[in-house]
Amino acid sequence: MTSKFIATRVVQNRHWTDALFSLRVEGVRLAFEAGQFVRIALDVEGERVARPFSMVNPPGDPVLEFYGIVVPQGPLSPRLARLAPGDTLHVASNPAGFLVLSELPDADTLWLLSTGTGIAPFLSILGTEAPWRRYRNVVLVHAVRHARELVYRETIESFPKLKYLRIVSREETPGALAGRIPAALRDGRLEAAAGLALAPETSQVMLCGNPGMLKDTSAALAERGMRKHRRRAPGHITVESFW
Ligand SMILES: Cc1cc2nc3c(=O)[nH]c(=O)nc-3n(C[C@H](O)[C@H](O)[C@H](O)COP(=O)(O)OP(=O)(O)OC[C@H]3O[C@@H](n4cnc5c(N)ncnc54)[C@H](O)[C@@H]3O)c2cc1C
Ligand SMILES: NC(=O)c1ccc[n+]([C@@H]2O[C@H](COP(=O)([O-])OP(=O)(O)OC[C@H]3O[C@@H](n4cnc5c(N)ncnc54)[C@H](OP(=O)(O)O)[C@@H]3O)[C@@H](O)[C@H]2O)c1
Repeated sequence: MTSKFIATRVVQNRHWTDALFSLRVEGVRLAFEAGQFVRIALDVEGERVARPFSMVNPPGDPVLEFYGIVVPQGPLSPRLARLAPGDTLHVASNPAGFLVLSELPDADTLWLLSTGTGIAPFLSILGTEAPWRRYRNVVLVHAVRHARELVYRETIESFPKLKYLRIVSREETPGALAGRIPAALRDGRLEAAAGLALAPETSQVMLCGNPGMLKDTSAALAERGMRKHRRRAPGHITVESFW
């Protein structure tokens, strides 16, 4: 499907580390549901290069925010990281995606499990009323390689009812779990840290980020009797792969 693109203006490009950046743009009002993505694009040597990016902000904000990482050989991400205030970013007019709470059944506990930039759509969801109205407990897990990649701390701390669990895989980090999400799930460390059970009777799980994490975590959840959620066959797991 061909998208119509709208020229927006960069108002900020925050650099968290050499590789991690948050782009804020204005000049477009998009109707979307928290958790959705939109294609964003730059013109490179006369060709439009577009990639899907999740909105970080909740719907209704006049400024759109995207959170990205530089993939060194990637056609788009290094260029996005170099954008400065006043530059143009093209944003498609048709947000999409099914990583949204309107697709999810109710439950006691909503688990939002992310790696790397996969935290973006969950920040948008947490900025709306729906998770707090519909779920007694909301848990956000952010798994990263290094502690410096545990971004958006202030935003996360603005959700007083949120249980926030950090996982750091490549260096020992006080207050964070070590290793990866599937291992922490299998050996019970994730539930112990949350003080909550992750079981089909009580939980809905959303997964976002690295496709290997989605596959391995879905397998660990299947061992607990959880299965993919589908409209026609309700289940417990909803995923969005970033590549
Ligand atoms: C539905 C959807 C939503 C997305 N939302 C985001 C988002 O909010 N933020 C974001 O940074 N990216 C997001 N992506 C990925 C994004 O579209 C690009 O692929 C990414 O920015 C790299 O673009 P590129 O052109 O530089 O390299 P590409 O040619 O697109 O990717 C090259 C390789 O880089 C790796 N890679 C791609 N994206 C990531 C990533 N996010 N983290 C780590 N490794 C990656 C993969 O190995 C991939 O094969 C999303 C992808 C999808 C499908
Ligand atoms: N992160 C950086 O310091 C950095 C800096 C510059 C550029 N980049 C580029 O960014 C890309 C990687 O980005 P990223 O670090 O955000 O993403 P990532 O490779 O997806 O790593 C994020 C987290 O996901 C974990 N993970 C990976 N595979 C998994 C699996 N199968 N199951 C469960 N967990 C899994 C990783 O653990 P493990 O550590 O055990 O793999 C890590 O904790 C690469 O293209 C890289 O070149 C990264």
